[in-house]
Amino acid sequence: MAAIPARAGATATASGSLPRSTGRRRRNAVVVAAATGTGPAVPQEGALERPAWSGETPLSRLVGALIAFKPLYSLMKLASREVIIRTAEKSNIPWREMTKKVLESDVYEVFERIRDPNLVYPNYYLSPFHAYDEGNLSWLAAAEAEPATMSIAKRAIPEATSIEEANQIVRGNWLNAIEEHHLKYSGNCQINDILDIGCSVGVSTRYLAEKFPSAQAVGLDLSPYFLAVAAQREEKLSRQNPIRWVHANGEATGLPSDSFDLVSLAYVCHECPARAITGLVKEAFRVLRPGGTIALTDNSPKSKVLQELSPVLFTLMKSTEPFLDEYYMLDLEETMRQVGFINVCSILTDARHRTVTATVPY
Ligand SMILES: C[S@@+](CC[C@H](N)C(=O)[O-])C[C@H]1O[C@@H](n2cnc3c(N)ncnc32)[C@H](O)[C@@H]1O
Repeated sequence: MAAIPARAGATATASGSLPRSTGRRRRNAVVVAAATGTGPAVPQEGALERPAWSGETPLSRLVGALIAFKPLYSLMKLASREVIIRTAEKSNIPWREMTKKVLESDVYEVFERIRDPNLVYPNYYLSPFHAYDEGNLSWLAAAEAEPATMSIAKRAIPEATSIEEANQIVRGNWLNAIEEHHLKYSGNCQINDILDIGCSVGVSTRYLAEKFPSAQAVGLDLSPYFLAVAAQREEKLSRQNPIRWVHANGEATGLPSDSFDLVSLAYVCHECPARAITGLVKEAFRVLRPGGTIALTDNSPKSKVLQELSPVLFTLMKSTEPFLDEYYMLDLEETMRQVGFINVCSILTDARHRTVTATVPY
């Protein structure tokens, strides 16, 4: 799998029960030496702890006030959706075609099998999200999830010549960070059981299952619509270890304690309020075996690209991502330490994303 150089970043200290990153300008901000030869650019850190458009800065408050003005919010929501779809299609992601295919399939039957009708959704999950009025609890959101996921990779590696190449780099660097961490800190403990919390339509779960083919992978999500798409796609494959799909809250999975060697949360935390992120990290700690690894990959507050995003882009993005400020304000690495994890490592795995890994002590 293709890889770009990734850089280990420092982790910050914290205070209080929900550790917050300081947001101050960092001395010695890292500009990583340019890569030699061709290939993707080396991911770079910006000068700040997190983007000036996030958290409690005047700029962030101004954007928040604009979004809170309902008529403007409705316009932004439409504009944001338009920008997302147009950008994806310009990058040769057949957004509308992929969506139509899912909506016209027999995915509705899978939904009935996979859904836990007794599941109680956390409040934050019931708000409008990503420009969908029903958030992630809708067929349109489920049908559009895979093209949206493909766009994440293309935005992170704009110089990639194809979506496949961008995906191989973004997902490859994430998987390599997990493997390296696990080998370094849990060398004798093989990865037999994997839990992918917030698996959405199963893209991350499939990457994990393919990287660790002898392991049994479980994909878990709060959206039965997303899980139905994931399960339907998987039914057509004959995998040595078929993936199991679970409709549950990642904060209270109902899965047995000490039953996984790897818990992954890929692009989940920026969609959650800080208290839910802490709940997810605690639940990961509970279900992991001693020596097990947690891996969180998501937007890096230190990413130079994200810190330098244009005002139009960050305003549109914030209009459809209600918990971004909380995500950027939370000191994720310190949260993991407070929950009990050790060997907390944070590395910029591409220009926009960090992968934070840690171990459950023996
Ligand atoms: C951006 S998607 C994840 C994408 C996927 N992991 C990947 O890498 O392709 C975020 C997912 O987190 C899920 N999610 C949010 N809060 C959750 C929770 N408390 N428990 C389980 N899933 C949750 C959402 O339903 C959504 O599917």
